[in-house]
Amino acid sequence: MKSVLELREAKRRGRKIAMLTCYDSTSAAIVADAGVDLILVGDSVAMTMHGHDNTLAADVDLMALHIAAVDRGLRQSHASSARPLIVGDLPFLAHRLGRDHLMAAAARLMRAGAQILKLEGVDGSEDDIRYLVESGVPVMGHIGLTPQSVHALGGWRVQGRDAQAADALRRQARALQECGVSALVLECVPAPLASEISASLEIPTIGIGAGAGCDGQVLVFQDVLGLQTHFKPKFVRRYLEGAEILRTALRRYVDDVRHEKFPAAEESFDIALSTPEANA
Ligand code: KIV
Repeated sequence: MKSVLELREAKRRGRKIAMLTCYDSTSAAIVADAGVDLILVGDSVAMTMHGHDNTLAADVDLMALHIAAVDRGLRQSHASSARPLIVGDLPFLAHRLGRDHLMAAAARLMRAGAQILKLEGVDGSEDDIRYLVESGVPVMGHIGLTPQSVHALGGWRVQGRDAQAADALRRQARALQECGVSALVLECVPAPLASEISASLEIPTIGIGAGAGCDGQVLVFQDVLGLQTHFKPKFVRRYLEGAEILRTALRRYVDDVRHEKFPAAEESFDIALSTPEANA
């Protein structure tokens, strides 16, 4: 995807948008080669890469560090013509600490390489979201299960199940579109409600645990590849049993070292014939 303007165009044409989280340069090059449209450097980085129980530990410094790493990785990708756009998460409270704080955070993350900023919630933030958009910052909304509010929501729960909660989500989705956001993440929302909201909007919705009626889907890199196995949410589809495959490969390495099978002669340097470059 070349620009944020293509998001609405994709929806209009009925072309589903594929987004995946990613947090480091090695993985970013692989994700880009796979053809995803959008890479989300999500604040889930606090959990997947830093071992926290929730996303609250992510701050602007951490997000900027990982966004910059992903940006560098995309420069190494073979798929330069179809380079995915980088969506960077505004971390916990970044848009609730005042306009100056928000704009400084936005500048930092955009300069690190993000092309779109995602923020959670809308109520009470409408003016700030509009200001961001008017300042030339493409914004992605995020409603439903908003992980930064995990304590207020009482845990990782499906949202919008009763009539009042469903109405609130409909209203929030409309409000975000009116604020000028470019797309909207719907997380853990019943599929029929997510479908209805998607059909009612001009901007694309990107679902996670929100059924097939959304205009796109997002999943977490480690979940898709089966790299973290302690917990598998219902909405995750694993395309690889990555943890097991990596464990098996690494056991072979350990075994080869122990049994003196690694390194072999062809993996070692000779005195006379070696070239100066270690990677030659
Ligand atoms: O941070 C993240 O990974 C997210 C996705 C779950 C949408 O916000």
